[in-house]
Amino acid sequence: MSRLEFACCVLLLGLGMCLGLRQSLRNVLLILADDGGFESGAYNNSAISTPHLNALAQRSLTFHNAFTSVSSCSPSRASLLTGLPQHQNGMYGLHQNDHHFNSFDKVQSLPLLLRQANIRTGIIGKKHIGPEPVYPFDFAYTEENGSILQVGRNITHIKLLVRKFLETQDERPFFLYVAFHDPHRCGHSQPMYGPFCEKFGNGESGMGWIPDWVPQTYTPEDVQVPYFIPDTPVARADLAAQYTTIGRMDQGIGLVLEELKVAGFLNDTLVIFTSDNGIPFPSGRTNLYWSGTAEPMLVSSPEHRNRWGQVSKAYVSLLDIVPTILDWFSIPYPSYSIFGTKTVHLTGHSLLPVLMSEPPWTTVFSSQSHHEVTMYYPMRSVLHQNFHLVHNLNFKMPFPIDQDFYVSPTFQDLLNRTRSGQQTSWYKDLHHYYYRDRWELYDRKQDPWEIQNLATDPNYREVLEMLKVQLTKWQWETNDPWVCAPDGVLEEKLSPQCQPLHNEL
Ligand SMILES: *[C@@H]1O[C@H](CO)[C@@H](O)[C@H](O)[C@H]1NC(C)=O
Ligand SMILES: *[C@@H]1O[C@H](CO)[C@@H](O)[C@H](O)[C@H]1NC(C)=O
Ligand SMILES: *[C@@H]1O[C@H](CO)[C@@H](O)[C@H](O)[C@H]1NC(C)=O
Ligand SMILES: *[C@@H]1O[C@H](CO)[C@@H](O)[C@H](O)[C@H]1NC(C)=O
Ligand SMILES: *[C@@H]1O[C@H](CO)[C@@H](O)[C@H](O)[C@H]1NC(C)=O
Repeated sequence: MSRLEFACCVLLLGLGMCLGLRQSLRNVLLILADDGGFESGAYNNSAISTPHLNALAQRSLTFHNAFTSVSSCSPSRASLLTGLPQHQNGMYGLHQNDHHFNSFDKVQSLPLLLRQANIRTGIIGKKHIGPEPVYPFDFAYTEENGSILQVGRNITHIKLLVRKFLETQDERPFFLYVAFHDPHRCGHSQPMYGPFCEKFGNGESGMGWIPDWVPQTYTPEDVQVPYFIPDTPVARADLAAQYTTIGRMDQGIGLVLEELKVAGFLNDTLVIFTSDNGIPFPSGRTNLYWSGTAEPMLVSSPEHRNRWGQVSKAYVSLLDIVPTILDWFSIPYPSYSIFGTKTVHLTGHSLLPVLMSEPPWTTVFSSQSHHEVTMYYPMRSVLHQNFHLVHNLNFKMPFPIDQDFYVSPTFQDLLNRTRSGQQTSWYKDLHHYYYRDRWELYDRKQDPWEIQNLATDPNYREVLEMLKVQLTKWQWETNDPWVCAPDGVLEEKLSPQCQPLHNEL
Protein backbone atom coordinates (compact mmCIF):
# COMPACT_ATOMS: atom_id res chain seq x y z
CA MET A 1 0.00 0.00 0.00
CA SER A 2 1.37 3.44 -0.80
CA ARG A 3 1.72 6.01 1.95
CA LEU A 4 -1.12 8.01 0.46
CA GLU A 5 -3.36 5.00 0.31
CA PHE A 6 -2.43 4.13 3.85
CA ALA A 7 -3.46 7.60 4.96
CA CYS A 8 -6.72 7.17 3.05
CA CYS A 9 -7.34 3.80 4.61
CA VAL A 10 -6.77 5.17 8.08
CA LEU A 11 -9.29 7.92 7.34
CA LEU A 12 -11.83 5.59 5.83
CA LEU A 13 -11.31 2.74 8.26
CA GLY A 14 -14.59 1.37 9.45
CA LEU A 15 -16.31 2.42 6.26
CA GLY A 16 -14.96 -0.69 4.56
CA MET A 17 -13.73 1.31 1.62
CA CYS A 18 -10.07 0.50 1.74
CA LEU A 19 -10.44 -2.66 -0.28
CA GLY A 20 -12.15 -0.88 -3.15
CA LEU A 21 -9.40 1.72 -3.22
CA ARG A 22 -6.67 -0.89 -3.29
CA GLN A 23 -8.20 -2.84 -6.13
CA SER A 24 -7.90 0.10 -8.48
CA LEU A 25 -4.14 0.26 -8.09
CA ARG A 26 -1.99 -1.56 -10.60
CA ASN A 27 1.50 -0.38 -11.51
CA VAL A 28 4.32 -1.44 -13.80
CA LEU A 29 8.08 -1.48 -13.25
CA LEU A 30 10.04 -2.23 -16.41
CA ILE A 31 13.74 -2.93 -15.85
CA LEU A 32 16.02 -3.02 -18.85
CA ALA A 33 19.62 -4.21 -19.07
CA ASP A 34 21.84 -2.62 -21.72
CA ASP A 35 23.35 -5.33 -23.95
CA GLY A 36 22.55 -7.92 -21.27
CA GLY A 37 22.33 -11.63 -21.99
CA PHE A 38 21.98 -14.92 -20.19
CA GLU A 39 24.82 -14.36 -17.73
CA SER A 40 22.73 -14.95 -14.63
CA GLY A 41 21.71 -17.70 -12.27
CA ALA A 42 18.14 -17.13 -13.47
CA TYR A 43 19.31 -18.71 -16.74
CA ASN A 44 21.37 -21.42 -15.10
CA ASN A 45 24.76 -19.77 -15.53
CA SER A 46 26.49 -21.04 -12.39
CA ALA A 47 29.74 -19.13 -12.99
CA ILE A 48 28.26 -15.75 -12.07
CA SER A 49 26.61 -14.65 -8.87
CA THR A 50 23.30 -12.81 -9.45
CA PRO A 51 21.28 -13.33 -6.26
CA HIS A 52 18.82 -10.55 -7.02
CA LEU A 53 17.92 -11.72 -10.51
CA ASN A 54 17.65 -15.24 -9.12
CA ALA A 55 15.25 -14.02 -6.43
CA LEU A 56 13.20 -12.13 -9.01
CA ALA A 57 13.03 -15.30 -11.13
CA GLN A 58 11.58 -17.09 -8.09
CA ARG A 59 8.64 -14.70 -8.26
CA SER A 60 8.46 -14.60 -12.07
CA LEU A 61 7.67 -16.62 -15.12
CA THR A 62 11.04 -16.97 -16.88
CA PHE A 63 10.92 -16.94 -20.67
CA HIS A 64 13.21 -19.35 -22.44
CA ASN A 65 12.39 -18.08 -25.95
CA ALA A 66 12.18 -14.29 -25.70
CA PHE A 67 13.61 -12.24 -28.56
CA THR A 68 14.22 -8.64 -29.42
CA SER A 69 12.81 -7.49 -32.75
CA VAL A 70 16.04 -5.62 -33.50
CA SER A 71 19.60 -6.02 -32.26
CA SER A 72 20.55 -2.41 -31.71
CA CYS A 73 20.06 -0.05 -28.80
CA SER A 74 17.83 2.85 -29.93
CA PRO A 75 15.84 0.81 -32.44
CA SER A 76 15.19 -1.79 -29.75
CA ARG A 77 14.16 0.78 -27.13
CA ALA A 78 11.87 2.48 -29.63
CA SER A 79 10.31 -0.90 -30.53
CA LEU A 80 10.00 -1.77 -26.84
CA LEU A 81 8.10 1.45 -26.13
CA THR A 82 5.95 1.48 -29.28
CA GLY A 83 5.26 -2.19 -29.98
CA LEU A 84 6.23 -1.43 -33.59
CA PRO A 85 9.33 -2.75 -35.40
CA GLN A 86 12.02 -0.23 -36.33
CA HIS A 87 10.93 -0.05 -39.97
CA GLN A 88 7.46 1.02 -38.80
CA ASN A 89 8.26 3.42 -35.95
CA GLY A 90 11.09 5.11 -37.87
CA MET A 91 13.96 4.58 -35.39
CA TYR A 92 16.16 2.92 -38.01
CA GLY A 93 19.39 3.31 -36.07
CA LEU A 94 21.04 4.99 -33.09
CA HIS A 95 19.49 8.19 -31.80
CA GLN A 96 22.47 10.04 -30.36
CA ASN A 97 24.97 12.41 -31.98
CA ASP A 98 25.38 12.30 -35.74
CA HIS A 99 23.36 9.09 -36.10
CA HIS A 100 20.33 11.22 -35.28
CA PHE A 101 17.59 8.67 -35.85
CA ASN A 102 14.13 9.46 -34.45
CA SER A 103 10.72 7.86 -34.48
CA PHE A 104 8.02 9.35 -36.69
CA ASP A 105 6.14 12.27 -35.13
CA LYS A 106 2.76 10.55 -35.21
CA VAL A 107 3.84 7.37 -33.40
CA GLN A 108 1.68 6.72 -30.33
CA SER A 109 4.19 5.39 -27.85
CA LEU A 110 3.52 3.66 -24.54
CA PRO A 111 4.43 6.70 -22.39
CA LEU A 112 2.12 8.86 -24.52
CA LEU A 113 -0.80 6.42 -24.26
CA LEU A 114 -0.26 6.01 -20.52
CA ARG A 115 -0.13 9.76 -19.97
CA GLN A 116 -3.43 10.12 -21.85
CA ALA A 117 -4.89 7.41 -19.60
CA ASN A 118 -3.82 9.33 -16.48
CA ILE A 119 -0.99 6.99 -15.52
CA ARG A 120 2.13 8.55 -14.09
CA THR A 121 5.27 7.77 -16.08
CA GLY A 122 8.89 7.82 -15.04
CA ILE A 123 12.20 6.99 -16.65
CA ILE A 124 15.50 6.57 -14.81
CA GLY A 125 18.63 5.76 -16.82
CA LYS A 126 19.30 5.44 -20.51
CA LYS A 127 16.63 6.90 -22.80
CA HIS A 128 18.38 7.02 -26.20
CA ILE A 129 15.20 7.63 -28.17
CA GLY A 130 13.33 10.62 -29.51
CA PRO A 131 11.83 12.93 -30.48
CA GLU A 132 10.80 14.14 -27.04
CA PRO A 133 7.09 14.71 -27.91
CA VAL A 134 6.79 11.05 -28.98
CA TYR A 135 8.37 9.74 -25.76
CA PRO A 136 7.27 12.08 -22.96
CA PHE A 137 7.79 11.04 -19.33
CA ASP A 138 6.47 12.91 -16.30
CA PHE A 139 9.61 12.16 -14.32
CA ALA A 140 12.87 11.83 -16.24
CA TYR A 141 16.46 11.42 -15.08
CA THR A 142 18.35 10.32 -18.16
CA GLU A 143 21.50 11.02 -20.17
CA GLU A 144 19.57 13.95 -21.65
CA ASN A 145 19.82 15.90 -18.42
CA GLY A 146 22.45 14.09 -16.38
CA SER A 147 25.51 11.87 -16.54
CA ILE A 148 24.84 8.45 -18.05
CA LEU A 149 27.29 6.93 -15.56
CA GLN A 150 25.24 8.33 -12.67
CA VAL A 151 21.73 7.56 -13.93
CA GLY A 152 22.68 4.29 -15.61
CA ARG A 153 25.50 2.70 -13.60
CA ASN A 154 25.67 4.31 -10.15
CA ILE A 155 23.27 2.01 -8.33
CA THR A 156 23.17 4.23 -5.23
CA HIS A 157 22.14 7.17 -7.38
CA ILE A 158 19.56 5.01 -9.17
CA LYS A 159 18.18 3.80 -5.84
CA LEU A 160 17.73 7.37 -4.63
CA LEU A 161 15.97 8.36 -7.85
CA VAL A 162 13.59 5.40 -7.58
CA ARG A 163 12.87 6.43 -4.01
CA LYS A 164 12.20 9.99 -5.15
CA PHE A 165 9.77 8.76 -7.79
CA LEU A 166 7.92 6.43 -5.41
CA GLU A 167 7.76 9.00 -2.60
CA THR A 168 6.07 11.59 -4.80
CA GLN A 169 2.56 12.05 -3.51
CA ASP A 170 0.40 11.09 -6.45
CA GLU A 171 -2.71 8.95 -6.51
CA ARG A 172 -2.33 7.81 -10.09
CA PRO A 173 -1.04 4.34 -10.95
CA PHE A 174 2.48 4.45 -12.32
CA PHE A 175 4.73 3.09 -15.03
CA LEU A 176 8.38 3.29 -14.02
CA TYR A 177 11.06 2.40 -16.54
CA VAL A 178 14.50 1.80 -15.04
CA ALA A 179 16.98 1.47 -17.89
CA PHE A 180 20.42 0.48 -16.64
CA HIS A 181 23.45 1.37 -18.74
CA ASP A 182 25.12 -1.72 -17.25
CA PRO A 183 26.39 -4.07 -18.60
CA HIS A 184 27.16 -2.08 -21.77
CA ARG A 185 30.79 -1.78 -22.87
CA CYS A 186 32.61 1.48 -22.18
CA GLY A 187 36.08 0.95 -23.60
CA HIS A 188 35.13 3.17 -26.51
CA SER A 189 34.01 6.16 -24.40
CA GLN A 190 35.48 5.80 -20.88
CA PRO A 191 38.41 3.38 -21.26
CA MET A 192 39.82 4.40 -17.88
CA TYR A 193 37.07 2.40 -16.17
CA GLY A 194 37.85 -0.84 -18.06
CA PRO A 195 36.18 -2.48 -21.09
CA PHE A 196 32.80 -2.75 -19.33
CA CYS A 197 33.16 0.16 -16.89
CA GLU A 198 33.59 -2.62 -14.36
CA LYS A 199 35.86 -0.42 -12.25
CA PHE A 200 33.57 2.61 -12.11
CA GLY A 201 32.72 3.23 -8.47
CA ASN A 202 34.68 0.28 -7.07
CA GLY A 203 36.49 2.47 -4.52
CA GLU A 204 39.95 2.11 -6.03
CA SER A 205 42.04 5.22 -6.57
CA GLY A 206 40.42 7.47 -9.19
CA MET A 207 37.44 5.18 -9.70
CA GLY A 208 35.05 6.81 -7.22
CA TRP A 209 32.83 4.90 -4.85
CA ILE A 210 29.31 3.55 -5.16
CA PRO A 211 28.30 3.04 -1.52
CA ASP A 212 25.74 0.27 -2.18
CA TRP A 213 27.95 -1.82 -4.44
CA VAL A 214 30.03 -4.77 -3.28
CA PRO A 215 32.10 -5.53 -6.41
CA GLN A 216 32.52 -9.17 -7.37
CA THR A 217 35.63 -10.03 -9.33
CA TYR A 218 36.03 -12.93 -11.71
CA THR A 219 39.07 -14.46 -13.32
CA PRO A 220 39.25 -15.58 -16.98
CA GLU A 221 39.09 -19.22 -15.79
CA ASP A 222 35.78 -18.57 -13.99
CA VAL A 223 33.61 -17.62 -16.96
CA GLN A 224 31.37 -19.72 -19.19
CA VAL A 225 32.21 -18.95 -22.82
CA PRO A 226 29.11 -18.99 -25.05
CA TYR A 227 29.50 -20.92 -28.32
CA PHE A 228 29.62 -17.74 -30.42
CA ILE A 229 32.61 -16.20 -28.59
CA PRO A 230 36.21 -17.30 -29.26
CA ASP A 231 37.57 -19.29 -26.34
CA THR A 232 40.77 -17.30 -25.91
CA PRO A 233 42.40 -15.77 -22.81
CA VAL A 234 41.56 -12.27 -24.11
CA ALA A 235 37.87 -13.05 -24.68
CA ARG A 236 37.67 -14.76 -21.30
CA ALA A 237 39.13 -11.69 -19.59
CA ASP A 238 36.59 -9.57 -21.47
CA LEU A 239 33.76 -11.79 -20.19
CA ALA A 240 35.15 -11.64 -16.65
CA ALA A 241 34.93 -7.82 -16.81
CA GLN A 242 31.37 -8.10 -18.16
CA TYR A 243 30.44 -10.38 -15.23
CA THR A 244 31.62 -7.76 -12.71
CA THR A 245 29.42 -5.15 -14.39
CA ILE A 246 26.45 -7.54 -14.48
CA GLY A 247 27.02 -8.02 -10.74
CA ARG A 248 26.64 -4.26 -10.25
CA MET A 249 23.39 -4.25 -12.22
CA ASP A 250 22.15 -7.26 -10.27
CA GLN A 251 22.76 -5.45 -6.98
CA GLY A 252 21.07 -2.39 -8.49
CA ILE A 253 18.01 -4.49 -9.33
CA GLY A 254 17.96 -5.66 -5.72
CA LEU A 255 17.99 -2.03 -4.54
CA VAL A 256 15.21 -1.01 -6.95
CA LEU A 257 13.00 -3.92 -5.86
CA GLU A 258 13.69 -3.13 -2.21
CA GLU A 259 12.52 0.47 -2.79
CA LEU A 260 9.34 -0.88 -4.39
CA LYS A 261 8.79 -3.12 -1.39
CA VAL A 262 9.48 -0.47 1.23
CA ALA A 263 7.11 1.94 -0.54
CA GLY A 264 4.44 -0.77 -0.36
CA PHE A 265 4.02 -1.38 -4.07
CA LEU A 266 5.49 -4.85 -4.48
CA ASN A 267 2.09 -6.54 -4.43
CA ASP A 268 0.49 -4.12 -6.90
CA THR A 269 3.21 -3.98 -9.50
CA LEU A 270 3.90 -5.99 -12.61
CA VAL A 271 7.70 -6.25 -12.82
CA ILE A 272 9.33 -7.04 -16.14
CA PHE A 273 13.06 -7.55 -16.63
CA THR A 274 14.64 -7.89 -20.04
CA SER A 275 17.42 -6.48 -22.25
CA ASP A 276 17.53 -4.50 -25.47
CA ASN A 277 19.73 -6.66 -27.72
CA GLY A 278 22.44 -9.29 -27.88
CA ILE A 279 25.68 -9.08 -25.90
CA PRO A 280 28.49 -6.97 -27.45
CA PHE A 281 30.50 -9.87 -28.83
CA PRO A 282 30.83 -11.37 -32.33
CA SER A 283 27.44 -12.68 -33.60
CA GLY A 284 25.81 -10.79 -30.72
CA ARG A 285 24.59 -7.18 -30.86
CA THR A 286 23.82 -5.95 -34.43
CA ASN A 287 23.17 -9.52 -35.63
CA LEU A 288 19.80 -11.19 -36.15
CA TYR A 289 21.19 -14.64 -35.35
CA TRP A 290 19.85 -16.30 -32.20
CA SER A 291 22.97 -15.02 -30.42
CA GLY A 292 22.08 -11.42 -31.30
CA THR A 293 18.35 -11.49 -30.58
CA ALA A 294 17.62 -13.96 -27.76
CA GLU A 295 16.97 -12.03 -24.53
CA PRO A 296 16.47 -12.82 -20.89
CA MET A 297 12.90 -12.05 -19.86
CA LEU A 298 11.34 -12.34 -16.41
CA VAL A 299 7.72 -11.35 -15.87
CA SER A 300 6.64 -11.10 -12.25
CA SER A 301 2.96 -10.57 -11.59
CA PRO A 302 1.69 -10.44 -8.02
CA GLU A 303 -1.65 -11.66 -9.37
CA HIS A 304 -0.35 -14.78 -11.08
CA ARG A 305 1.55 -16.59 -8.38
CA ASN A 306 0.88 -20.09 -9.64
CA ARG A 307 3.42 -19.51 -12.45
CA TRP A 308 6.14 -18.16 -10.17
CA GLY A 309 9.40 -20.02 -10.55
CA GLN A 310 8.29 -21.67 -13.80
CA VAL A 311 9.86 -21.50 -17.26
CA SER A 312 7.81 -20.75 -20.38
CA LYS A 313 8.88 -22.07 -23.77
CA ALA A 314 6.49 -19.75 -25.64
CA TYR A 315 8.13 -17.64 -28.36
CA VAL A 316 7.73 -14.05 -27.26
CA SER A 317 9.08 -10.76 -28.49
CA LEU A 318 9.91 -7.38 -27.01
CA LEU A 319 7.09 -6.23 -29.33
CA ASP A 320 4.81 -7.96 -26.80
CA ILE A 321 5.68 -5.55 -23.99
CA VAL A 322 3.40 -2.71 -25.14
CA PRO A 323 0.35 -5.00 -25.57
CA THR A 324 1.13 -6.53 -22.14
CA ILE A 325 1.33 -3.21 -20.31
CA LEU A 326 -1.76 -1.82 -22.06
CA ASP A 327 -3.60 -5.02 -21.11
CA TRP A 328 -2.46 -4.72 -17.48
CA PHE A 329 -3.88 -1.18 -17.33
CA SER A 330 -6.94 -2.09 -19.51
CA ILE A 331 -6.10 0.59 -22.06
CA PRO A 332 -7.14 -0.07 -25.68
CA TYR A 333 -4.67 0.60 -28.49
CA PRO A 334 -5.92 3.55 -30.54
CA SER A 335 -6.86 3.34 -34.20
CA TYR A 336 -4.59 5.72 -36.11
CA SER A 337 -2.21 5.94 -39.00
CA ILE A 338 1.38 7.20 -39.19
CA PHE A 339 1.25 7.84 -42.93
CA GLY A 340 -1.78 8.16 -45.19
CA THR A 341 -4.65 5.84 -44.37
CA LYS A 342 -2.69 2.71 -43.39
CA THR A 343 -3.95 1.86 -39.92
CA VAL A 344 -1.27 0.88 -37.43
CA HIS A 345 -1.75 -2.55 -35.83
CA LEU A 346 0.31 -4.08 -33.07
CA THR A 347 1.58 -7.51 -34.14
CA GLY A 348 2.64 -8.54 -30.62
CA HIS A 349 0.41 -10.16 -28.01
CA SER A 350 -0.23 -9.46 -24.35
CA LEU A 351 1.81 -11.81 -22.17
CA LEU A 352 -0.76 -11.83 -19.37
CA PRO A 353 -2.50 -15.00 -20.68
CA VAL A 354 0.90 -16.76 -20.56
CA LEU A 355 0.91 -16.04 -16.83
CA MET A 356 -2.07 -18.40 -16.59
CA SER A 357 -1.20 -21.15 -19.05
CA GLU A 358 1.28 -21.99 -21.75
CA PRO A 359 0.20 -20.68 -25.20
CA PRO A 360 1.04 -22.41 -28.51
CA TRP A 361 3.25 -19.54 -29.72
CA THR A 362 6.15 -20.59 -31.94
CA THR A 363 6.86 -17.61 -34.20
CA VAL A 364 8.68 -14.28 -33.78
CA PHE A 365 9.95 -11.73 -36.28
CA SER A 366 12.90 -9.32 -36.37
CA SER A 367 13.89 -6.38 -38.50
CA GLN A 368 17.12 -4.39 -38.57
CA SER A 369 18.30 -1.54 -40.81
CA HIS A 370 21.17 0.33 -39.14
CA HIS A 371 23.11 0.52 -35.92
CA GLU A 372 25.41 3.51 -36.46
CA VAL A 373 24.36 5.68 -39.40
CA THR A 374 27.13 4.21 -41.56
CA MET A 375 26.13 0.63 -40.72
CA TYR A 376 23.43 0.12 -43.31
CA TYR A 377 22.86 -3.62 -43.42
CA PRO A 378 19.13 -4.32 -43.61
CA MET A 379 17.99 -7.77 -42.45
CA ARG A 380 14.62 -9.35 -41.79
CA SER A 381 14.12 -12.60 -39.95
CA VAL A 382 11.55 -15.10 -38.76
CA LEU A 383 12.01 -17.79 -36.16
CA HIS A 384 9.38 -20.46 -36.46
CA GLN A 385 9.57 -23.57 -34.26
CA ASN A 386 13.09 -24.92 -34.79
CA PHE A 387 13.65 -23.02 -38.04
CA HIS A 388 15.30 -19.66 -38.39
CA LEU A 389 15.30 -17.70 -41.63
CA VAL A 390 17.40 -14.53 -42.04
CA HIS A 391 17.07 -12.40 -45.15
CA ASN A 392 20.18 -10.28 -45.72
CA LEU A 393 18.96 -7.64 -48.15
CA ASN A 394 22.37 -6.12 -48.89
CA PHE A 395 24.26 -9.39 -48.76
CA LYS A 396 26.88 -8.25 -51.28
CA MET A 397 28.27 -5.80 -48.73
CA PRO A 398 30.58 -6.85 -45.90
CA PHE A 399 28.72 -7.00 -42.58
CA PRO A 400 29.48 -3.71 -40.75
CA ILE A 401 31.28 -3.44 -37.40
CA ASP A 402 30.43 -0.76 -34.84
CA GLN A 403 33.00 1.50 -33.16
CA ASP A 404 32.36 0.28 -29.65
CA PHE A 405 32.70 -3.40 -30.55
CA TYR A 406 35.65 -2.72 -32.87
CA VAL A 407 37.91 -1.54 -30.02
CA SER A 408 36.85 -4.39 -27.71
CA PRO A 409 39.61 -6.75 -26.63
CA THR A 410 37.68 -9.73 -28.06
CA PHE A 411 37.40 -8.26 -31.54
CA GLN A 412 40.95 -6.89 -31.58
CA ASP A 413 42.21 -10.32 -30.58
CA LEU A 414 40.14 -11.92 -33.36
CA LEU A 415 41.52 -9.44 -35.91
CA ASN A 416 45.09 -9.97 -34.73
CA ARG A 417 44.79 -13.74 -34.81
CA THR A 418 43.17 -13.71 -38.25
CA ARG A 419 45.80 -11.35 -39.70
CA SER A 420 48.69 -13.40 -38.37
CA GLY A 421 47.13 -16.74 -39.32
CA GLN A 422 46.88 -17.94 -35.70
CA GLN A 423 44.13 -20.21 -34.49
CA THR A 424 41.09 -18.11 -33.57
CA SER A 425 39.30 -20.67 -31.37
CA TRP A 426 36.10 -19.33 -32.84
CA TYR A 427 33.16 -21.20 -34.41
CA LYS A 428 33.32 -19.06 -37.58
CA ASP A 429 35.93 -17.17 -39.52
CA LEU A 430 35.96 -13.48 -40.29
CA HIS A 431 35.44 -14.02 -44.02
CA HIS A 432 32.11 -15.78 -43.45
CA TYR A 433 31.16 -13.31 -40.74
CA TYR A 434 31.58 -10.42 -43.18
CA TYR A 435 30.17 -12.08 -46.31
CA ARG A 436 26.78 -13.66 -45.78
CA ASP A 437 24.35 -15.40 -48.10
CA ARG A 438 21.19 -13.59 -49.06
CA TRP A 439 19.01 -16.23 -47.40
CA GLU A 440 20.21 -18.05 -44.32
CA LEU A 441 18.07 -20.94 -43.12
CA TYR A 442 18.98 -22.90 -40.03
CA ASP A 443 17.45 -25.89 -38.32
CA ARG A 444 18.11 -25.00 -34.71
CA LYS A 445 17.20 -28.48 -33.48
CA GLN A 446 20.04 -30.09 -35.48
CA ASP A 447 22.27 -27.02 -35.55
CA PRO A 448 21.75 -24.73 -32.55
CA TRP A 449 24.87 -22.73 -33.46
CA GLU A 450 23.36 -21.75 -36.82
CA ILE A 451 26.34 -22.76 -38.92
CA GLN A 452 24.91 -24.93 -41.70
CA ASN A 453 22.87 -22.83 -44.13
CA LEU A 454 20.07 -24.99 -45.56
CA ALA A 455 18.59 -22.33 -47.85
CA THR A 456 19.78 -24.05 -51.02
CA ASP A 457 19.17 -27.60 -49.76
CA PRO A 458 16.32 -29.09 -51.85
CA ASN A 459 15.08 -31.02 -48.80
CA TYR A 460 14.22 -27.73 -47.14
CA ARG A 461 12.62 -26.02 -50.13
CA GLU A 462 9.12 -26.18 -48.64
CA VAL A 463 10.27 -24.92 -45.26
CA LEU A 464 12.10 -22.07 -46.96
CA GLU A 465 9.03 -21.11 -49.00
CA MET A 466 6.75 -21.27 -45.96
CA LEU A 467 9.05 -19.04 -43.91
CA LYS A 468 9.45 -16.56 -46.77
CA VAL A 469 5.66 -16.31 -47.00
CA GLN A 470 5.35 -15.74 -43.23
CA LEU A 471 8.07 -13.11 -43.25
CA THR A 472 6.70 -11.22 -46.24
CA LYS A 473 3.20 -11.27 -44.72
CA TRP A 474 4.54 -9.69 -41.53
CA GLN A 475 6.46 -7.10 -43.56
CA TRP A 476 3.27 -6.07 -45.37
CA GLU A 477 1.31 -6.02 -42.10
CA THR A 478 3.87 -3.72 -40.51
CA ASN A 479 4.16 -1.43 -43.56
CA ASP A 480 7.80 -2.30 -44.17
CA PRO A 481 9.22 0.05 -46.84
CA TRP A 482 11.83 -2.66 -47.59
CA VAL A 483 9.24 -5.32 -48.41
CA CYS A 484 10.27 -5.56 -52.09
CA ALA A 485 14.02 -5.20 -51.63
CA PRO A 486 16.53 -6.04 -52.97
CA ASP A 487 15.12 -7.28 -56.28
CA GLY A 488 12.02 -5.12 -56.56
CA VAL A 489 10.70 -1.62 -56.03
CA LEU A 490 7.70 -0.92 -53.85
CA GLU A 491 5.20 1.11 -55.83
CA GLU A 492 2.70 2.37 -53.28
CA LYS A 493 0.20 4.45 -55.20
CA LEU A 494 -3.24 2.90 -55.80
CA SER A 495 -2.54 -0.67 -54.69
CA PRO A 496 0.91 -1.20 -53.15
CA GLN A 497 2.89 -3.82 -55.01
CA CYS A 498 6.42 -4.94 -55.83
CA GLN A 499 7.67 -4.17 -59.32
CA PRO A 500 10.61 -6.23 -60.62
CA LEU A 501 14.02 -4.66 -61.18
CA HIS A 502 15.78 -7.30 -63.29
CA ASN A 503 18.93 -6.53 -61.32
CA GLU A 504 20.27 -10.09 -61.60
CA LEU A 505 19.49 -11.08 -58.00
C1 LIG B 1 17.48 -24.32 -15.56
O1 LIG B 1 17.73 -25.69 -15.33
C2 LIG B 1 16.61 -26.40 -14.81
C3 LIG B 1 17.07 -27.81 -14.45
O2 LIG B 1 17.64 -28.41 -15.56
C4 LIG B 1 15.50 -26.37 -15.84
O3 LIG B 1 14.36 -27.03 -15.34
C5 LIG B 1 15.14 -24.93 -16.16
O4 LIG B 1 14.17 -24.89 -17.20
C6 LIG B 1 16.36 -24.15 -16.59
N1 LIG B 1 15.99 -22.72 -16.67
C7 LIG B 1 16.05 -22.04 -17.80
C8 LIG B 1 15.62 -20.61 -17.74
O5 LIG B 1 16.45 -22.49 -18.86
C1 LIG C 1 16.07 16.28 -15.19
O1 LIG C 1 14.74 16.60 -15.55
C2 LIG C 1 13.80 16.47 -14.48
C3 LIG C 1 12.44 16.76 -15.05
O2 LIG C 1 11.97 15.67 -15.76
C4 LIG C 1 14.14 17.43 -13.37
O3 LIG C 1 13.23 17.28 -12.31
C5 LIG C 1 15.55 17.14 -12.91
O4 LIG C 1 15.92 18.07 -11.94
C6 LIG C 1 16.53 17.20 -14.07
N1 LIG C 1 17.83 16.77 -13.59
C7 LIG C 1 18.92 17.44 -13.82
C8 LIG C 1 20.19 16.86 -13.28
O5 LIG C 1 18.93 18.50 -14.44
C1 LIG D 1 27.15 7.50 -6.67
O1 LIG D 1 26.04 8.20 -6.17
C2 LIG D 1 26.17 8.54 -4.79
C3 LIG D 1 24.85 9.18 -4.37
O2 LIG D 1 24.51 10.22 -5.24
C4 LIG D 1 27.37 9.43 -4.59
O3 LIG D 1 27.53 9.70 -3.23
C5 LIG D 1 28.61 8.71 -5.13
O4 LIG D 1 29.72 9.56 -5.05
C6 LIG D 1 28.41 8.30 -6.55
N1 LIG D 1 29.55 7.48 -6.98
C7 LIG D 1 30.22 7.71 -8.11
C8 LIG D 1 31.31 6.77 -8.43
O5 LIG D 1 29.95 8.63 -8.87
C1 LIG E 1 -1.01 -9.77 -2.71
O1 LIG E 1 -1.93 -9.92 -3.76
C2 LIG E 1 -2.45 -11.23 -3.89
C3 LIG E 1 -3.29 -11.32 -5.15
O2 LIG E 1 -3.69 -10.07 -5.63
C4 LIG E 1 -3.24 -11.55 -2.63
O3 LIG E 1 -3.74 -12.86 -2.72
C5 LIG E 1 -2.30 -11.44 -1.43
O4 LIG E 1 -3.02 -11.63 -0.25
C6 LIG E 1 -1.64 -10.08 -1.39
N1 LIG E 1 -0.61 -10.10 -0.35
C7 LIG E 1 -0.37 -9.08 0.45
C8 LIG E 1 0.75 -9.23 1.42
O5 LIG E 1 -1.03 -8.05 0.41
C1 LIG F 1 46.58 -6.65 -31.55
O1 LIG F 1 47.74 -6.29 -32.24
C2 LIG F 1 48.18 -4.96 -31.99
C3 LIG F 1 49.32 -4.67 -32.94
O2 LIG F 1 50.25 -5.71 -32.94
C4 LIG F 1 48.55 -4.83 -30.53
O3 LIG F 1 48.96 -3.51 -30.24
C5 LIG F 1 47.34 -5.16 -29.68
O4 LIG F 1 47.67 -5.16 -28.31
C6 LIG F 1 46.78 -6.52 -30.04
N1 LIG F 1 45.51 -6.66 -29.34
C7 LIG F 1 45.09 -7.80 -28.80
C8 LIG F 1 43.80 -7.75 -28.06
O5 LIG F 1 45.70 -8.82 -28.89
